[in-house]
Amino acid sequence: MGQVHSEILPGRVQNANMTDYTRAVSEFRWEDVEKEFSWFHTGKVNMAHEAIDRHVAEGRGAATALIYSDSAREERYTFADLQERSNRFGNVLRKYGIGKGDRVFIFMPRSPELYFSLLGVLKVGAVVGPLFEAFMETAVKDRLEDSGAVALVTTPELLKRVRHEELPELQHIIVVGAQADPEHGILSYEEETATAAAELEPEWLTLEDGLIMHYTSGSTGKPKGVYHVQRAMIQHYYTGKIVLDLRPDDVYWCTADPGWVTGTSYGIFAPWLNGVANVVRGGRFSPQDWYKTIERFAVTVWYSAPTAFRMLMGAGLSSLQGIDLSSLRHVLSVGEPLNPEVVRWGDKIYNQRIHDTWWMTETGAQLICNYPGMDIKPGSMGRPLPGIEAAILDDRGNVLPPYSMGNLAIRTPWPSMMGTIWNNKAKYDEYFRIPGWYISGDSAYMDDEGYFWFQGRIDDVINSSGERIGPFEVESKLIEHPAVAEAGVIGKPDVLRGEIIKAFISLREGYLPSIELKDEIAAFVKAGLSAHAAPREIEFKDKLPKTRSGKIMRRVLKAWELHLPAGDLSTIED
Ligand code: PRX
Repeated sequence: MGQVHSEILPGRVQNANMTDYTRAVSEFRWEDVEKEFSWFHTGKVNMAHEAIDRHVAEGRGAATALIYSDSAREERYTFADLQERSNRFGNVLRKYGIGKGDRVFIFMPRSPELYFSLLGVLKVGAVVGPLFEAFMETAVKDRLEDSGAVALVTTPELLKRVRHEELPELQHIIVVGAQADPEHGILSYEEETATAAAELEPEWLTLEDGLIMHYTSGSTGKPKGVYHVQRAMIQHYYTGKIVLDLRPDDVYWCTADPGWVTGTSYGIFAPWLNGVANVVRGGRFSPQDWYKTIERFAVTVWYSAPTAFRMLMGAGLSSLQGIDLSSLRHVLSVGEPLNPEVVRWGDKIYNQRIHDTWWMTETGAQLICNYPGMDIKPGSMGRPLPGIEAAILDDRGNVLPPYSMGNLAIRTPWPSMMGTIWNNKAKYDEYFRIPGWYISGDSAYMDDEGYFWFQGRIDDVINSSGERIGPFEVESKLIEHPAVAEAGVIGKPDVLRGEIIKAFISLREGYLPSIELKDEIAAFVKAGLSAHAAPREIEFKDKLPKTRSGKIMRRVLKAWELHLPAGDLSTIED
């Protein structure tokens, strides 16, 4: 079995100059990373084994794995504790016949039980689908229905948003913090795990077997189930080492919820594959709370998002009074463009550079990054990691020279590349329409030193506070409201959140525009989908710009909003 914490992985860039980078890139081999896994020697693959059980087997069972806190709880669990808890939950799933390839969803706020059950699902070879706690009825139903989930782990509070009578495939509901209700097919997490055995032989898989599903938005259609396979762990482990720079004694905190890909790839897999203590903070964002979390647990490596950094910046120096952040060694960001002024503010407040990283739900792990040892150019996402080739392509697939704007593309494959889009092979194929490349949907350019600079989205996907929102999903919900005849949704630039959701709406006959109606419509989306999908701005229009085939032209709405020329209007209705 390989050493977990090798001093230097091949590809590790120790110095800032280009010669080192070029050498690291040319010497890099994924196989050297693969050798560090137990399956490389045994052929038996299971993410939960690699992230948890292996540490126990190799004598690190007493090391802290999870440090959980919220306003009511503060608890620590070792790798041995996590092994036992996940085994018990895995045995509960097995008792009900749940195993390899089954989809098991988890819909609950951050809590230790979320992590125990997620690991338990993986132990039995099932595919886990974490759902963000803010999702409301329609959002939850769409995801459970599309994935064909057979089991759901949730809380009594959130269960109220699950229309299980309409989901015939959903056979088992396990509720955390409640008694069983056999009449309605509800099992109790506490009762079931109390009597389950603490030992379990994991389901042995291959690298191509399923791991996790995250639903994410595109510009058309409902959210798509991005399905990842076990192979992704190679890149979770590798980037944990070279980008997060995780070392054995680190205390690491990723602020993302496991309902989003950052909260699993980097809130679960990367830290635990690297055997590091992982901080989870429950509850909502607050500057005081966050800074206290860093101080209290002496966090050394911190991964967060631009909106959070901008909010912390906005909270001013008073939020830092009496707080000691000197434990921090490495700070990283993901999810949206990281403004140069935020990087410079970080230089002063955290005494170091915030490292921007670029990747997507579909890519499974980081691809273009600023990582320790390299010169950071504030405003750039960084350079492709050793092992990753990125380029800017025109629409026909020609590689463009430096400083040309075009499609940000990644050479296929890489270990954490999605396995498929669930139930939607056609959508999956669209990403790979240019042979040999994955087309990200982002536009960017590369400078003459190989640094990549984000420019925007090519499609209509909205990025608000780092959360990806599909305009179609919001529009579909809007037109369910009795007053709404038609709706078009765009992202409007916003200093704090990157973008906010703005909806243009035409009303049905008999309805008059009013502030009350705007509030009511926004609340309707919030109650049906989720708070982050609700429009922050609504503008009523007599008519919306449409193509002759009846498609609302978001590009024209955006031009209205930004007072820009609307471009080619040859397809407009009138
Ligand atoms: O547009 C890019 C933006 O977020 C999109 C991916 O969103 P999601 O799948 O939700 O994953 C977020 C966390 C991995 C990208 O297509 N994005 C992500 N990171 C950056 C970014 N935009 C600019 N700079 C980044 N570092």
